[in-house]
Amino acid sequence: MKHKISFLPDNLEAVAMDGEDILAVLTSTGLKINASCGGAGTCARCKLILEKGKIEGGGRERLDQDEVEAGYFLACKASAVSDLVVRIPDASRQNDLFESDEGATSLAALEDSLKFWLIDMPVKKVQLKLPKPNLTDSVDDLRRLKRVFAIKIASDKEILADLDLVRSLAKAIRDADFLVTVSYIETASSIEIIRVEAGDTTKDHFAVAVDVGTTTIGASLIDLVQEREVASLSSYNGQANFGDDVISRIIFAAKPNGLTKLKDAVVVTISGLITGLLEKSGRTAGDISAIFLAGNTIMTHLLLGIDPKYIREEPYIPTAVDFPWMKAADLNLDILGHARAFVFPSVASYVGGDVVAGVVANRISSGDKLTLYIDVGTNGEIVLGNSDWLMACSCSAGPAFEGGGVKDGMKAAEGAIEKVEIDEESLEARVSVIGGVKPSGICGSGLIDLLAELFLKRVVDQRGKIDPALKGPRIRENGGGLEYIVAFGSETASGRDIVIGEADIDNLLRAKAAVFAGVTMLLESMSLNPESIDEILIAGSFGRYLNVEKIQIIGMLFETEAGKVRYVGNGSLSGATLAALSKQVISEAEKVAERMTYLELSADPKFMDAYISALFLPHTDVELFPSVMERFKAAGT
Ligand code: FES
Repeated sequence: MKHKISFLPDNLEAVAMDGEDILAVLTSTGLKINASCGGAGTCARCKLILEKGKIEGGGRERLDQDEVEAGYFLACKASAVSDLVVRIPDASRQNDLFESDEGATSLAALEDSLKFWLIDMPVKKVQLKLPKPNLTDSVDDLRRLKRVFAIKIASDKEILADLDLVRSLAKAIRDADFLVTVSYIETASSIEIIRVEAGDTTKDHFAVAVDVGTTTIGASLIDLVQEREVASLSSYNGQANFGDDVISRIIFAAKPNGLTKLKDAVVVTISGLITGLLEKSGRTAGDISAIFLAGNTIMTHLLLGIDPKYIREEPYIPTAVDFPWMKAADLNLDILGHARAFVFPSVASYVGGDVVAGVVANRISSGDKLTLYIDVGTNGEIVLGNSDWLMACSCSAGPAFEGGGVKDGMKAAEGAIEKVEIDEESLEARVSVIGGVKPSGICGSGLIDLLAELFLKRVVDQRGKIDPALKGPRIRENGGGLEYIVAFGSETASGRDIVIGEADIDNLLRAKAAVFAGVTMLLESMSLNPESIDEILIAGSFGRYLNVEKIQIIGMLFETEAGKVRYVGNGSLSGATLAALSKQVISEAEKVAERMTYLELSADPKFMDAYISALFLPHTDVELFPSVMERFKAAGT
């Protein structure tokens, strides 16, 4: 039996096959909702509201009584028994393009790096006036073009052109009376003509830089003539409907059609971002000459349609870590037509092109300072080194700092609480919100602030448990645990209280402990102590106002001089952006991926010990955090 399902408020319809779960039906429409556990029925985030019709199942035992009464059910645990009308509540939705507020990703913020790298774009445009053929000069169009082109760019490298280009050549040459613009890509050994356009289009020359994150995908449109970023957007990765972290995505990829679904989902997200960037900037798809993509190894495999299965099985082998330039159309990013794609090379199974891009963008591989680079994404990647050596490891931090796995967590965008202060006496919270609007949730920087404040003001203990003896309007029981109300419903955008509960705190503790344990292992492997590090760079999608002191209070990072630590925003997107402008950045990325040594932590029992010890605030060994504990004691007197 088939049933029709209407999804509101989008007014999209889809047909459910017998027994098909409603999450799968919804996903087939292109809609995205939270589904952290990938449909296992454990995260309770895929909530929908039944407005009409009958369902089987629904996972209501995982919902609050008031939610059940309001018609809520879990999409992954329900199937249709009749035609249905269901509503997607805002809290479940994941489909907006948003202007991220991560800071330090725009070209203006990369000014220092830009001075360092030679501006010499990998994809260029040049205008040519070809001599018209006649009976004494009857050479074919392609050789005519190559002859003039080779002189213009003064190169004796082999010049290549594929069949698609040759098919379009005769018309392009004659449409503007033998005046053409040639787009080309230069590698070490050859030059490939990728497009011939009629007339002079040298001013319409753009690239897209993309950070292919597990949870969030960020993209920027770069004007290659003006050397400036003209638009920037982010979106949740559409693969989130199939699980939160890279492991659940690998598991999903093994299901029938799983790999195709994951590939399609990320391609749809990136294509949506490109459409958004073009709309925002008033440009068209034809203006885009190239796209530069940086992602972790699993995201890269899935984007390219490569099965990531063996990454998860000992000895954890990726199928490939470096890739030739390819046609964007081969990735199904058909919006770009002729454009070429560069995918950043990875290092190993769990250290990917995103971290390579960040290391190059922040000149760690080309500088003398011993630098610790921590990229806190869903998959935390940590690098230690300088121009002499580079060592990397990876730890599964989970998406908590990107707003996943935390009830009122959200991306760093308008409406996100980015800073929190708690009054010691009254336990009242003072928050600042991105965009100065009513709050909708809490982004990574806000969550770090909040956790640090809750600890310093003794609302939570070292285990992250809320003190049951505390009384007041901000603390209440909810579903067997306690929660702290960060903003009351009367002050929020949705009219609902914004809260942090003990389960949320547990997820934050797990994320910070994974990072701390990774850093500890990396230092130990090189027999170094924290004092030997000259500089610490934190990358990620926390939000513009990441407070590095609070990072140390929660014990994500060891205590160190504040001046040594710097937040660098989205390092992966910075690297992808710089690659659009400089061939040097691309060749440096290739060298970095080759020479970075990977430290595999999953097989090391010492990592688990370090992780468990770090699950406390700030740590089980408080002697590691003397200043934090001094502040903690002072706050309690
Ligand atoms: Fe439905 Fe997690 S409970 S996706």
